[in-house]
Amino acid sequence: MYSNHTSSIITNAQDVRIVDFRSDTVSLPTASMRRAIYEATVGDDVYGEDPTVKELEIRSAKMFGKEAALFVPTGTMANLLAVMVHCSRRGSEAIVGDKAHVFLYEQGGAAQIAGVLLNTIQNLPDGTFCLNQLKNKFRGLDVHEPHTSLVLVENTHNMCGGKVLPLQWLEDLAKICKENSAKIHMDGARVFNAAEFLNVPISRVVRDVDSVCYCLSKGLACPVGSVLIGTEDFIKDAHRLRKALGGGMRQVGFLAAAGLCALDEIVPMLKDDHVRTRQIAESIHKLNSSLISVDLDNLHTNILLVQILNNKIKSCDLSERLAEVKMKELDDGLVDSSGRGISVKISARDWAFARIVVYTNVTDDEVNLAIRKIAYVVEEYQQNLK
Ligand SMILES: Cc1ncc(COP(=O)(O)O)c(C=O)c1O
Repeated sequence: MYSNHTSSIITNAQDVRIVDFRSDTVSLPTASMRRAIYEATVGDDVYGEDPTVKELEIRSAKMFGKEAALFVPTGTMANLLAVMVHCSRRGSEAIVGDKAHVFLYEQGGAAQIAGVLLNTIQNLPDGTFCLNQLKNKFRGLDVHEPHTSLVLVENTHNMCGGKVLPLQWLEDLAKICKENSAKIHMDGARVFNAAEFLNVPISRVVRDVDSVCYCLSKGLACPVGSVLIGTEDFIKDAHRLRKALGGGMRQVGFLAAAGLCALDEIVPMLKDDHVRTRQIAESIHKLNSSLISVDLDNLHTNILLVQILNNKIKSCDLSERLAEVKMKELDDGLVDSSGRGISVKISARDWAFARIVVYTNVTDDEVNLAIRKIAYVVEEYQQNLK
């Protein structure tokens, strides 16, 4: 056991170096992004007069191999617009994985705002779902039933640990949806990470879906924004509905400029985030601990799920302990090059899992500090649990 002195917690912010792995949404704009924002040519985008927004939309559509695109403030709005357009027929339902962000974390906007029923299908650990099960979910023409107008997929899959949907699965899914006159929307908040993992152009990843959105404000480090992409007709309808949702913005080219910069500079560097995520995963694996483990074989991108193996410890306990800095850690030399203690922030998902997310601002130095802190805390738990 520690003495009172050594177990006391360092609270002075200056004495603590924070390594923040809670989410890639905490990523910060880079210097060149800030310059691009400052220098952007802008106009009133509701009047269709912002050239920088137009450039981002045209470039996005082209990159994704689709006809048109629309800049929107958030991923949540992009997904809601997709549901609203694809399910515009009253009495529609959308089928969605039970671990999808749209189902779990968007306040049921599909029901709340669009009047669309979300019908869940069980997500498999790889982010897919069983296509045979899906076939049985489509409704017929029975007057008792809603129309199944849409299937939603997520790529990469956040709650499944950044998993990339297999291209063959998407192709098979598209065939089934076509046979059943349903559209596919891909929540591609992190779809560039999928392209990086698969080593194919982004247009190939989204080839088989009718619409897709990607987020600028996650791993791409922009302050705000998502882009919704699909056919001309789809985007025309989404553009109209965006205004109704309060998403018509004025001189928003300042944000689109950051997006263009991200496509040039951040997308090509996503592989570094994947390498750093793997370094952390490997270091945890090497601990060979009875407390936590990672699934190295199924690590795809920048999201690492850490499983808590001991039921006496909850993931919120682990995340709290990693974030705090005890005096004893300083005495034990667990400090950065400026002598500061190390606070590692991760997010507790449920009792058994915590999530680590790597993004462009995370440096090799921070990865090494985090690895040391994790090893220290695991050892401390193991001593205390003896
Ligand atoms: C997979 C996924 N989709 C959509 C969203 C929603 O994005 P936003 O926070 O921009 O509304 C998130 C946010 O974390 C996400 O992880």
